[in-house]
Amino acid sequence: MIRINPENTAMKICRFPFFAFFLPMVFLVNGCIVYPDLVETGMKSPKTEKCGDCHIDIYNEWKESPHASSYTSNAFKEETFDYSFTFCLGCHAPETIFTGAKIEPRSVHVEEGVNCNGCHLNDCTLSGPTPARAPHPITEKDMYYKTSELCGKCHVGTYNAWQKTGNMEDKKTCQDCHMPKIVRKLIQDEPWQKIYPKREGKQHFFSYQELIPVRENILLLSFTNIVQSEDTIEGTLEITNTGIPHSVPTGDYGYREVLIKIELLNKTGHVIDTRETSLFTEMKTALNYGEKRIIPFDFTQKNTASGIRVRMIRTSLNRDTSFILVEKIYSH
Ligand code: HEC
Ligand code: HEC
Ligand code: HEC
Ligand code: HEC
Ligand code: HEC
Repeated sequence: MIRINPENTAMKICRFPFFAFFLPMVFLVNGCIVYPDLVETGMKSPKTEKCGDCHIDIYNEWKESPHASSYTSNAFKEETFDYSFTFCLGCHAPETIFTGAKIEPRSVHVEEGVNCNGCHLNDCTLSGPTPARAPHPITEKDMYYKTSELCGKCHVGTYNAWQKTGNMEDKKTCQDCHMPKIVRKLIQDEPWQKIYPKREGKQHFFSYQELIPVRENILLLSFTNIVQSEDTIEGTLEITNTGIPHSVPTGDYGYREVLIKIELLNKTGHVIDTRETSLFTEMKTALNYGEKRIIPFDFTQKNTASGIRVRMIRTSLNRDTSFILVEKIYSH
């Protein structure tokens, strides 16, 4: 653990007189001062709810995120035979990603999965990318948080794929797409939030909803060679991964499938017939960055069709959740 220089800390207290209010809580343990419990490790690792006392909005987002359920999810429980594979825990319930080449699992609160400290605890401080000043040990403007490398500590396969997509200047990082920008205060607890300015921060949902703003022009769909006769319609669908710098779907573990539904529509827009195929990691049919897939299709019809629709849908094992990534309609 790196010691916080007492002089620096004293300087901060001088510059921000309101810190005096926190002084009763200030004490020295292991060189970490001011809310030292927040940067403890091992058996004393804090519960994530504590971060939620102040960072209310971020906490509520994280709680909904797959990171918060990465230990408790049924899939993980089953695949580790009820948690008997301890070597799986480092990425699913990390102490912090900064524990060396191999990420060490936490000793306590494992049910919190990838929690705040899992990503933010570094050398006895809570690090982040903004110019923030906090009542707890902090490393501000830590630009490592802006890099894909951070995500790549656990998302190894996806990160390797991302790295291979070239070095263009405007190359997007994982955070650019998966952590959309939002201007707000970093804390919401009263009365302290009143003295903090709004900043440009990042959302912590890590969900498909977040991809809605970025999904334009990242998967290109086009219909070609459509030939229609009295009782058939045939043609080809071309799908190109023009802008997602990893395969679709991506990921090294779990069930990962993207359904492609080609639907024949009647004049009122109802589906008359469907052709289904899928992009599936396990079948090695995932669509890599820059790759084009050509899918021929044909339908029989009785002159009732008025259009064809294609939808790419990210789905789950039991098909109980689905999210439309892109869709396109061809009409004539
Ligand atoms: C007592 C209130 C309080 C608690 C509890 C608290 N924080 Fe903070 N934290 C703050 C304040 C205040 C800031 C600075 C806000 C600002 O400058 O806009 C901050 C800033 C941060 C930053 C931003 C760093 C940067 O430079 O961008 C991180 C990361 C952070 N806290 C993580 C945590 C984590 C993780 C926990 C739980 C272990 C936690 N905080 C608990 C009050 C708190
Ligand atoms: C400490 C390891 C770790 C780090 C660091 C990490 N993740 Fe994750 N991430 C996971 C695990 C484990 C899951 C699986 C959770 C589940 O589905 O149960 C996951 C799930 C996700 C998912 C959801 C996948 C899905 O199938 O819906 C996204 C998106 C994601 N992470 C993006 C990121 C991004 C972006 C970063 C970097 C800012 C990041 N992660 C950093 C471990 C990590
Ligand atoms: C240009 C925007 C963009 C960037 C940059 C990006 N992603 Fe994605 N990501 C997407 C889209 C769109 C999807 C949904 C399609 C899919 O499931 O593959 C996705 C899906 C995912 C998923 C869920 C996979 C699944 O199918 O369940 C994970 C995990 C993920 N990305 C991790 C990362 C990581 C890690 C990085 C950085 C190395 C990254 N992404 C960079 C746009 C992006
Ligand atoms: C999977 C890793 C991961 C987890 C888990 C995580 N964060 Fe973050 N957090 C990041 C990254 C990466 C950034 C910076 C993103 C950027 O600026 O591009 C960030 C940014 C922040 C910031 C700086 C301001 C902002 O909004 O960007 C604060 C404060 C913060 N996180 C607090 C928390 C708290 C509190 C929790 C738990 C409730 C948490 N984080 C969980 C990765 C994570
Ligand atoms: C290097 C870090 C790392 C290790 C080690 C790791 N995982 Fe994961 N795991 C992830 C990440 C990141 C995700 C989410 C994206 C993906 O699949 O790549 C994930 C997702 C999963 C999922 C999908 C969860 C869901 O809800 O869909 C399962 C199941 C899983 N892991 C099981 C395991 C098992 C079993 C082990 C041990 C054999 C293990 N993991 C070891 C990083 C890791």
